[in-house]
Amino acid sequence: MTHYKIALLDGDGIGPEIMVEAVKILNLVAERNKVEFELIHALFGASAYFECGHPFPEETKKICDEADAILKGPIGLSHEESQKIPVDMQPERGALLPLRRRYNTYANFRPVFLPKGLAHFSPLKAEIIGDGIDIMIIRELVGGLYFGEKQSGINSEGNRYVKETLEYDEVQIRRIAKVAFDTSMKRKKVLHNIHKSNVLKSSVLWNEVMAEVAVDYPEVKVINILVDAAATYLCLNPRQFDVMVMENMFGDILSDQGGGILGSLGLMPSACLGDEKAYYEPSHGSAPDIAGKNIANPYSMIGSVAMMLEMSFGMDQEAKNVWHAMQSVFAQGYSTPDLSKPGSGVKMIDTRGFGDLVVAELRKLPV
Ligand code: IPM
Ligand code: MG
Repeated sequence: MTHYKIALLDGDGIGPEIMVEAVKILNLVAERNKVEFELIHALFGASAYFECGHPFPEETKKICDEADAILKGPIGLSHEESQKIPVDMQPERGALLPLRRRYNTYANFRPVFLPKGLAHFSPLKAEIIGDGIDIMIIRELVGGLYFGEKQSGINSEGNRYVKETLEYDEVQIRRIAKVAFDTSMKRKKVLHNIHKSNVLKSSVLWNEVMAEVAVDYPEVKVINILVDAAATYLCLNPRQFDVMVMENMFGDILSDQGGGILGSLGLMPSACLGDEKAYYEPSHGSAPDIAGKNIANPYSMIGSVAMMLEMSFGMDQEAKNVWHAMQSVFAQGYSTPDLSKPGSGVKMIDTRGFGDLVVAELRKLPV
């Protein structure tokens, strides 16, 4: 029997409760497909810091090193709570970025997907949503401002200053460009390259390399668009986009806007792929305000499982089934309080209820 080791990093806030639902799906998938998933929970994030003094403990690193894939919940605390942790031990800087760096997960896939049936979640008008939104944002994840050299101190005028560097080399750009073109080839063959070359030299090099890689993909139509304009078009006409590729910081911001046009970041799963290791995570934060209330929708966590099935284990059909099962639950009129207002006509269920219904729907689908 095929055996996969999966490291489960529950994370902070709503992380543990949405992870429980993801595990239900993994267990059912294992049973249906006669594969074995060895699930190993490990501490990660602020909870790890409070428990053992480090947000990415050595033991967790070892478990992740040995795993075939990593499923990670959201991390982070409220602004006030974060202040109780030294700056470099805060979970974003002390755990998440080191995780990305350790496994060189340079290719971040963030689907912005809203089938017509979910149009009521979106703040956009029905005529803008049309038949639905289906965009794949591809974000470079281990370069740029996030990982550039940082300096701070007092300058010669006696003022506090900070300096952060935005660095890319052509190798980093080429490898993410290839991922974007390969993804475009499997989809509509239209690739929006997001840049800011009217100001940033990094974008000038980015665009040069994109154009070089494009030569190997003559079927893909490349549309170059400035990042600020792209933000506008995501609201005004999101259906013009299919695959969008961009550097790290642009991708952080535009992918949250993607969640915004869907109606919630809770609808944003993601995959972070390196050449040797991949991890999967919701794109959103840990929502400390609703943690422990059993109201957070586990869609992004279960969607991340679907992406893992496809991208790490080649279980494409079962991945589709998981997506389909989640859409069926929504199609039957169910929703969770974080996605819908009471009185909006939806049949209100909780976190566990959503997971159970997805399990029931998945059981109905042929393997
Ligand atoms: C994301 C998050 C992270 C990022 C934070 C938590 C450091 O916002 O994955 O988009 O900025 O990359
Ligand atoms: Mg973000």
